[in-house]
Amino acid sequence: MTTATRATRHRLSADGVPVGQAWTGRHLLDVDQLTPPEIAACLELAVEMRERRERRERLQTLAGETIGLAFYEASTRTRVSFELAAGALGATVVDLRPDASSATKGESLLDTLRTLERTGVTTVVLRHRAAGAPYLAARGTGLRIVNGGDGAHAHPTQALLDALTLRDALGELPGRKIAIVGDIGHSRVARSNIHLLGALGMRVRLAGPAAWVRDFERWPGVEVHRTLDEALRDADAVMALRVQLERGAGGGIPTLGEYRRRWGLNEERMRLARLDAPLLHPGPTNEGVELTAALAGAPRSLIGRQVTNGVAVRMAVLSLLSGAT
Ligand code: NCD
Repeated sequence: MTTATRATRHRLSADGVPVGQAWTGRHLLDVDQLTPPEIAACLELAVEMRERRERRERLQTLAGETIGLAFYEASTRTRVSFELAAGALGATVVDLRPDASSATKGESLLDTLRTLERTGVTTVVLRHRAAGAPYLAARGTGLRIVNGGDGAHAHPTQALLDALTLRDALGELPGRKIAIVGDIGHSRVARSNIHLLGALGMRVRLAGPAAWVRDFERWPGVEVHRTLDEALRDADAVMALRVQLERGAGGGIPTLGEYRRRWGLNEERMRLARLDAPLLHPGPTNEGVELTAALAGAPRSLIGRQVTNGVAVRMAVLSLLSGAT
């Protein structure tokens, strides 16, 4: 490939939109704020970021910016990948660690965030157990807010990295069928994915215990299936979700053993899906509950790939929000 064609490929998205353009929104609160060209620009830029990271290039896109991580709920993948993404773009990163901050002395979320702002932090990645907390932060501070997961509501960067992983595996997404199975009711990952993958033209199927899928029966553009087998049949891709006991999921199922028997994924059940249909899971996995260890480690499992893509997608998101691509 010549230098000229490389440059053209990176400057224009699949839809012909210049990738160098910033997103119009100041914050990333959920994927529903993104236009189709903005989604395309993010996925294209993430591919470029991934290649640059593989070449160990050091970028200065966010030099001079300070990015705060404020994770009021546990996180491994999202927190670490945002930290690496911000660092790879030349930003300074501060990790608030709420459990060791003045939040433990009763300080409110907004007071804590305003304190970060006064120290010179410009952008905060916020994870919070309360749905809507990032919206409050966006209104109540001068910070740029990136939603790192709010309650059961939204997890926009997870959906974007899932879309990239699916595109890597399947190529074109329009018309392809994805089965999202398990604890959909408590899952912010599912909600953001239903929106984003639908916007990208995928046919979204949902399946899980009745109490967890009931609310989705009226969602436009999704098919709710009564059994796991029905949802898996001929699916082009499958996404498993963790049973979120910390959000009260235990009330929707008799026992975890019963759950595993009816809704647990294994290699045999995956044979109902298309040959080699990729398996995704946002992690952390509870092997032996929503999926077997053998399936998590099978060639069709893209769980590791999702994590790697997470760094690239978060680099793209931070760049597009700063307008400095
Ligand atoms: C998810 C989350 O926190 O919403 N994990 C993640 O961000 N990769 C899903 C989960 O905790 O089950």
